[in-house]
Amino acid sequence: MKILISGAAGMVGSHCAEFYAQQGERVWGIDNLMRSRLFKSNKKSVEYNWEYLTGFKNIERVYLDIRDIPALEDVFKKNKFDLIIHTAAQPGVGFSVQYPREDFEINAVGTFNMLELASKYSPGASFIYCSTNKVYGENVSSYALVEDATRYRFKDIIGIGEDTSIDHTTHTPYGVSKYVGDMYVQEYGKTRNIKTAVFRMSCIYGMRQFGFEDQGWLAWFLIATLMNRKITIYGDGKQVRDVLYVKDLVKAFDAFFNSDIESSVFNIGGGVDNTVSLLEYLNMLGDKLNTNIDMDFSDWRPSDQKVYISNIEKVKSTLNWAAATSLGEGLDYLISWAKDNRDLF
Ligand SMILES: NC(=O)c1ccc[n+]([C@@H]2O[C@H](COP(=O)([O-])OP(=O)(O)OC[C@H]3O[C@@H](n4cnc5c(N)ncnc54)[C@H](O)[C@@H]3O)[C@@H](O)[C@H]2O)c1
Repeated sequence: MKILISGAAGMVGSHCAEFYAQQGERVWGIDNLMRSRLFKSNKKSVEYNWEYLTGFKNIERVYLDIRDIPALEDVFKKNKFDLIIHTAAQPGVGFSVQYPREDFEINAVGTFNMLELASKYSPGASFIYCSTNKVYGENVSSYALVEDATRYRFKDIIGIGEDTSIDHTTHTPYGVSKYVGDMYVQEYGKTRNIKTAVFRMSCIYGMRQFGFEDQGWLAWFLIATLMNRKITIYGDGKQVRDVLYVKDLVKAFDAFFNSDIESSVFNIGGGVDNTVSLLEYLNMLGDKLNTNIDMDFSDWRPSDQKVYISNIEKVKSTLNWAAATSLGEGLDYLISWAKDNRDLF
């Protein structure tokens, strides 16, 4: 089998590449290694993951930008892929507000480029797209909440389902550019010769995640704590997310690929059984690292959802999938990787 992964140096992409390489499949991984630049870091980040992939003989790395159509077409022309996992993106909300054009060109046009070429050169392939809970924008905040001591929670629902409206709300430019990709993926799944899955992801975390303040908060809080950097909480810290360990996400992708399910949209995260607030997470981190965490508070960020919990009933029942890794267990993996690699941060 031939598998193409965009964003292969990223957190999700590198785990997808590793998963299929370990099964003996032939994997092509493309990336332009721009994550650090997006987050204005003068340290290298996903270069580490790019290097990590050299440990697998059956992964071919191709350094390219998904906006560069001739270079991308060259990869597609040479191979008919069975599975394409499109993870490459500009993933930061803050970046999208500051640079909406670049955000749009990477996330929306980049996804369109991937789809066009997949349909042209890999008919019959499965195409998996990493969408986001941000496509629902502030509609998520229309559900009644209850405020507890350390967290908010939904009063009447277990989580946000796929039928939640995406209209009549603000999303942030990131939410919009990702949603354009999401819609195109759905469209091509219905009208072209590829089978597509849109996974609207909540909060994914794992080893090889280079968290920054603007994206990847579970990893960012850990890295900041290990490196004695101050953590700023935007809002009151009672915001709640459902969290999912990256290897469980990859299993859901694979379950879709191996299923005979038609093109589909899934909300995915840890679901109601795997939720945590910022305050609770920091508490957990303090206990695991046996330290006091240095933090201060600032105003809420625009469009920050007080609660986002995915309703994962559809992905569970359709793909016979479940989130297997608890936050405690997943965090131990992340901590041990980060401790072994302090020089990267
Ligand atoms: N991690 C999460 O919690 C989360 C939640 C919702 C959605 N997502 C989506 O999942 C996907 C993967 O997220 P991640 O956490 O692995 O992010 P990541 O930043 O670790 O990985 C993305 C990779 O894409 C690469 N990239 C960016 N622009 C590129 C371009 N123009 N050409 C080629 N490569 C490019 C980056 O260098 C990076 O290696 C993204 O599409 C993101 O929007 C992630």
